[in-house]
Amino acid sequence: MALLNDLEWRYATKKYDPTKKVSQEHVDKIVEAARLAPTSSGMQQFRVFVISKQEIKDQLVPIANGQQIVADASHVLVFAAWDQYTEERIDSIFKLTTKERGLPSDKFVDYTNRLKAVYLKQSPEENFVHTAKQAYIGFGLSIAQAAELKVDATPMEGFNTEQLDELLQLKAKGLKSVLMLPLGYRDEEGDWLLPMKKVRNPKEEFVQEV
Ligand SMILES: Cc1cc2nc3c(=O)[nH]c(=O)nc-3n(C[C@H](O)[C@H](O)[C@H](O)COP(=O)(O)O)c2cc1C
Repeated sequence: MALLNDLEWRYATKKYDPTKKVSQEHVDKIVEAARLAPTSSGMQQFRVFVISKQEIKDQLVPIANGQQIVADASHVLVFAAWDQYTEERIDSIFKLTTKERGLPSDKFVDYTNRLKAVYLKQSPEENFVHTAKQAYIGFGLSIAQAAELKVDATPMEGFNTEQLDELLQLKAKGLKSVLMLPLGYRDEEGDWLLPMKKVRNPKEEFVQEV
């Protein structure tokens, strides 16, 4: 029930109080929720960048179509996904799992071969569609964790991904940006959305009993 109350409380904050900063402890928890997210085959196909430097946040404004949110927020998380699958990337979490669980080194060979047979024959574009979906799972959990901590957040995909990739040098890291999540504290007086009712489709329309 507490989670539902937190989800009722949260909203896509439109105006932040730039004087209020989110503690490192809270930022860490919000990122940790994404790290703990389930992903397809557990491969964690995305990474999270934590931007707190004002000069970088200011550079995000034109990239985010002039949305001042990204400069006024305390931190901006950027969720970036693998630009494609490679043999090395597919193997990486299974090597770690084998080591951490003390399993025989060939434990996941058949499984990873099956994954490689699927992903390595797809185009990078097809693979990015899949890796980006995993980023959305982590993103959702970070939004929920922020709400639980009473930290405001704005889910954002309204930005130029190529420009953000360039700013964060993501290509060299084999990543492409997917989403931004500014974090901070609402401007109680200046946010037009704050007093507005939360609107969702009625349950009877949203839920289809079969
Ligand atoms: C994937 C995604 C992308 C979004 N992109 C933006 C954005 O670029 N700018 C913005 O102000 N809001 C953005 N939103 C916020 C949505 O408009 C908002 O979540 C939705 O209207 C529901 O309202 P609520 O979050 O206040 O409950 C985005 C939300 C999601 C989930």
